[in-house]
Amino acid sequence: MKSSQLQLCSRPEGHPSAENFSMVHVDLPELKEGQILVRNEFLTVDPYMRGRMNNVKSYVPPFELNQPLEGGAVGFVVESKNSAFKVGEPVLSGFGWRDLWVAEPKGVISLKNMEDYPLSWALGTLGMPGLTAWSGLHKVGALQPNETVFVSGAAGAVGSIVGQLAKAHGARVIGSAGSQAKVDWLKEIGFDEVINYQKQPIRKALAEVTAKGIDLYFDNVGGSHLEAAIDRMNVKGRIVLCGAIEQYNQLERPSGPDNMIMIVGKQLSLKGFIVSSYNTYHNQFQEDVRGLIGKGQVTVQETVSEGLDQMVNAFLGLFSGHNTGKAIVKLSLN
Ligand SMILES: NC(=O)c1ccc[n+]([C@@H]2O[C@H](COP(=O)([O-])OP(=O)(O)OC[C@H]3O[C@@H](n4cnc5c(N)ncnc54)[C@H](OP(=O)(O)O)[C@@H]3O)[C@@H](O)[C@H]2O)c1
Repeated sequence: MKSSQLQLCSRPEGHPSAENFSMVHVDLPELKEGQILVRNEFLTVDPYMRGRMNNVKSYVPPFELNQPLEGGAVGFVVESKNSAFKVGEPVLSGFGWRDLWVAEPKGVISLKNMEDYPLSWALGTLGMPGLTAWSGLHKVGALQPNETVFVSGAAGAVGSIVGQLAKAHGARVIGSAGSQAKVDWLKEIGFDEVINYQKQPIRKALAEVTAKGIDLYFDNVGGSHLEAAIDRMNVKGRIVLCGAIEQYNQLERPSGPDNMIMIVGKQLSLKGFIVSSYNTYHNQFQEDVRGLIGKGQVTVQETVSEGLDQMVNAFLGLFSGHNTGKAIVKLSLN
């Protein structure tokens, strides 16, 4: 049986492009005792994957050249020589960027508990991005009701959940996003103020909607957005450093925020975090977010591309604002 998989054939310098990837077709081995054969149905593309394309030491090892890329995937077991996994069972794995895979199911999670939800949500709101939003807001940021929250990248997988969770917790929520359509959608789902940072400079626009300052800034963008937020933070405000997508494709290491000294005067706390350190909260997060979905306080949005040959475009689209909500690639057309 053949598997189609995407490999990194060269490391991007600056912005990645289609030339950095190649589609390879390989023969799968016969199933051995203990192994399963899985057909992937949904694949995820996430900004952190850009960091893994650089040959640098980080919290996850770099992708190897000319090897299948890795990432979250939801699929169905089609053959099983492992009594813990039945044929037809949905599973979540790290064997993304490919259609079929054979492996021992180490680290593979059964999705039997997703029967009330679309399975792709295990890659978004009920998966890693959702836990990032929930743990960043509640465990890192210690959000209090009635606070003012600013979240950048607000229409993305993490940002849209951050804003909705903060609203559900009683906060006033301000977001930034890169198009009028995204602004309109964020207002529809309850954001109090939304800035289109492509239309007006973020620093000026944020000042206009934060007469009472910001208590908690959830930073997905870094750079210009971090500077704008520091300007407007209240004394003893908290900044949750989740990501800095503005900087992922920059060739030169950017200089620090130009208003660093304000962190001292305002006695701000800035804390970075990586979601995997918060996996122990998985059950609490699931209960909380599923409850809010049930009450209509969290709306799930996805941008779905179809076909493995669209995987690279979907990934590149993360850096040009193609997605609203979670970017997903669906492999079968049924
Ligand atoms: N710390 C952790 O453990 C952790 C876990 C997951 C994700 N993250 C980080 O969280 C952030 C959001 O991730 P996500 O999965 O939710 O991605 P996402 O927001 O769904 O997708 C990326 C979005 O970022 C925006 N963007 C791209 N380039 C930008 C730029 N130069 N300036 C401003 N905005 C830009 C685009 O929206 P616009 O149209 O609005 O520009 C794009 O749609 C990323 O920084 C990611 O690395 C961190």
